[in-house]
Amino acid sequence: MNSLIRFGVAVPSTLLEEFDSFIERKGMPNRSEALRQLIRERLSREMWVSGSGVVYGTVTMMYDHHGKDVVAALTALQHEYGESIICTTHVHVDHHHCLECIVLKGDAGEIRRFVEALGTLKGVKSIEPSISAIL
Ligand code: NI
Repeated sequence: MNSLIRFGVAVPSTLLEEFDSFIERKGMPNRSEALRQLIRERLSREMWVSGSGVVYGTVTMMYDHHGKDVVAALTALQHEYGESIICTTHVHVDHHHCLECIVLKGDAGEIRRFVEALGTLKGVKSIEPSISAIL
């Protein structure tokens, strides 16, 4: 059972005003919910950067499939990291461009290596990882 613990936090008044304004703009229900979300996001990012723990996420990439060997290289790379890949969705955007969304679950370091390897493929226009941990 994950019990809720109340704790006091001292912050400068101007920082709290900025925080409350942020909460209102984002339509968040209250400070507690906003703070929990920010803590989770920051810790997820830390896990992703430090390379330990199981993370979940997606990598969305756009590439020109006419790039030299890009399709074969992408397939080989996905087989190499197959244990971390849950599924992929491919959209043929136009004559040149493909959009591929890869859903991932695995060790943060392994997934980071996979994303870095995607960046070495010829013809890749953009790579956007979105990674979260269960916290
Ligand atoms: Ni395509």
